[in-house]
Amino acid sequence: MKHTVSTFQKMKEEHKKITMLTAYDYSMAKLMDDAGIHGILVGDSLGMVMLGYEDTLSVTMEDMIHHTAAVARGAKNALVVGDMPFMSYQASVYDAVVNAGRLMKEGRCQAVKLEGGATVCQQIRAITDASIPVMAHIGLTPQSVNAFGGFKVQGKTEQAAKKLLADAKAVEEAGAFAVVLECVPDKLAALISKSISIPTIGIGAGADCDGQILVYQDMLAMFSDFKPKFVKQFADIGMAMKDGFSKYIEEVQTGTFPAQEHTFKIDDDIIEKLY
Ligand code: KIV
Repeated sequence: MKHTVSTFQKMKEEHKKITMLTAYDYSMAKLMDDAGIHGILVGDSLGMVMLGYEDTLSVTMEDMIHHTAAVARGAKNALVVGDMPFMSYQASVYDAVVNAGRLMKEGRCQAVKLEGGATVCQQIRAITDASIPVMAHIGLTPQSVNAFGGFKVQGKTEQAAKKLLADAKAVEEAGAFAVVLECVPDKLAALISKSISIPTIGIGAGADCDGQILVYQDMLAMFSDFKPKFVKQFADIGMAMKDGFSKYIEEVQTGTFPAQEHTFKIDDDIIEKLY
């Protein structure tokens, strides 16, 4: 069954947890889809985990379209959400609609995500008016890392908590079909989840969100630059990959690989005629 914004809404109403992961390519999207994931975000985190940048700011529309299209080809059932990169929607509502349209038309995603609360509501409204579903993203919004002065938990003071609650209500009002809550204290995330009718998708926001999302390299221990507190490593694929690479190096060097079964044959008569 193909997941859509409507199935996400139904899951919230039926108190069924929504599962999402990030992916950036066809093979990984296919594996997640086969495992039964409900939604895949082609996050601009690709700048860090795939491209090796120190933050997400350098990611371009072309990067996002390229990776979103690959994921969309691999995801039969999961709802595919393409992330709007830094400065693809902040400068104007016009930019926001044009770039969201490109992500959907060229990347073939079923929804887009953008960061921000009340300040981007005009963009959310205009994009949804163009029939493109929008997932909002509040709390720690990595595109604002310089404004925040680092990657920090958000909403810890009374004033900041009130602002986050107001932002969640504002993005719902503007037409967002779901909202990511990143690095938000669990009790505040629980209150936000109860206070709005669209699903909340948490990352570092506790167990009471309507769904959860993680970056796949984090949850499979494939990214070793740093490990946020909210990450649980569900498998050590990083180690398994390193083991595989070491065995390959050893077998090539010792001549064990390729063996007969990996090798194509030709008649000796033909080879002799070449000498
Ligand atoms: O870019 C990303 O991967 C994200 C998730 C962390 C929500 O925005």
